[in-house]
Amino acid sequence: MSVTDDFATLAHDLRRHAALYTEGKPEITDADYDAMFKKLQALEAQFTSCKDPNSPTARVGSPSLSDFPKVKHARKMLSLDNAMTAQEVVDKLGYTGWVTWEPKIDGLSLSLTYEGRKLVKAVTRGDGTTGDDVTINARTIKTIPLILSEKAPATRIEVRGEAFMRFSVFEELNSALEDDDKFANPRNAAAGTMKLKDSRAVAARKLDFMAYELIGEEDIAMYSDLLHRLNDEQFMTPLHAPRVDDAPISTVALGAGGSFTDSALAIKGMEDIHESLDFPIDGMVIKVSDMADRADLGDGTRAPKWAIAFKFPPERKSTLLKDVEVSVGRHGTLTPIAILEQVHLSGTKVHRASMFNEAEIARLGVAVGDTVMVEKSAEIIPRVCSVYERCYTDPKTGKTGTIDQLLAERKAQGIENE
Ligand code: IVH
Repeated sequence: MSVTDDFATLAHDLRRHAALYTEGKPEITDADYDAMFKKLQALEAQFTSCKDPNSPTARVGSPSLSDFPKVKHARKMLSLDNAMTAQEVVDKLGYTGWVTWEPKIDGLSLSLTYEGRKLVKAVTRGDGTTGDDVTINARTIKTIPLILSEKAPATRIEVRGEAFMRFSVFEELNSALEDDDKFANPRNAAAGTMKLKDSRAVAARKLDFMAYELIGEEDIAMYSDLLHRLNDEQFMTPLHAPRVDDAPISTVALGAGGSFTDSALAIKGMEDIHESLDFPIDGMVIKVSDMADRADLGDGTRAPKWAIAFKFPPERKSTLLKDVEVSVGRHGTLTPIAILEQVHLSGTKVHRASMFNEAEIARLGVAVGDTVMVEKSAEIIPRVCSVYERCYTDPKTGKTGTIDQLLAERKAQGIENE
């Protein structure tokens, strides 16, 4: 067997295992994968002339990327209109027919261009018209295929989707960073990572990519066909995303009376569980299934008319205010920080929250020992939004606690409650 055969076999095996990993069905351990990977790297180092730019080892990145060249999008990258209730989804979409719904991933959108079945460009959304060329960084993302199969057209195709960071990766990353440098949420972490100048650092941060658009493939009748095509090419798609209903992707006749109730329930179900998922999800996207209908509906200036986002409201929970610390920012700003009994909010562990300044503390009328309401949406740093239950000291028993606790204590001690 020649060296090039060895290269090809190893590269093929690595791609296969990367694909199985994407599907959540790995056949080998991470350590075995790494060992195979190192073997290919060693071979490539020895026989540099045989190295394929799309080799799986390209994913480890190269040392330095000086600046991101700007690239104009072939087609504008749009945003999505929002709805806050299921009824608003129906009203704003104004469509009767089949729709699908899927998680709205809280990351950053990327456009991937393939030519001759090879990844040639990865560009961020930027201002929608022009984005940053982050190809070197995108190549490090394991769930972005570098080469497409023979089934894909050799002509230019574009795949769009969301690059994101799983919560588990986000937590690990943040725990290694100083307070001032911590990312507020997985979206900021993903965006910050994509903009790193050292693609080896990008590779280490383990981003993922979920694809939901395919431009340049003919003869796709329904959205589910499109997703299956992407799936065949080893992309992670909404078909892999967590959902509460059984169907791989749910389709429902919108506007046909009761059927929307089912989708509203599925969406509500996702709202209830999304904080327990490893995926950063900030809502659901409802999309027209029929691709010809999508083309007829067309795009608005800001968003397509065939899709709408249902955003989850920011989460709130009550917890104990254990202490207040003052943090001194890089520029000398003083911020009171609430030290809380840890709660899970919008998928992250919260044990500190901002109280902005002294005036805010006065406005809230909050004191250590109180049970407070803490709010966190994916976009913002957790904040204390109100006092839920005040903490008192009882002069008769000398105990501190909520009114209910103090009354219970008096009763236990047989003290009359005047
Ligand atoms: S469909 C706009 N589907 O949300 C063109 N977008 O707030 C069609 N996003 O710019 C987009 N998950 O970056 C679509 N399942 C999903 C999505 C999704 C996240 C992002 C996308 C878009 C932004 C709008």
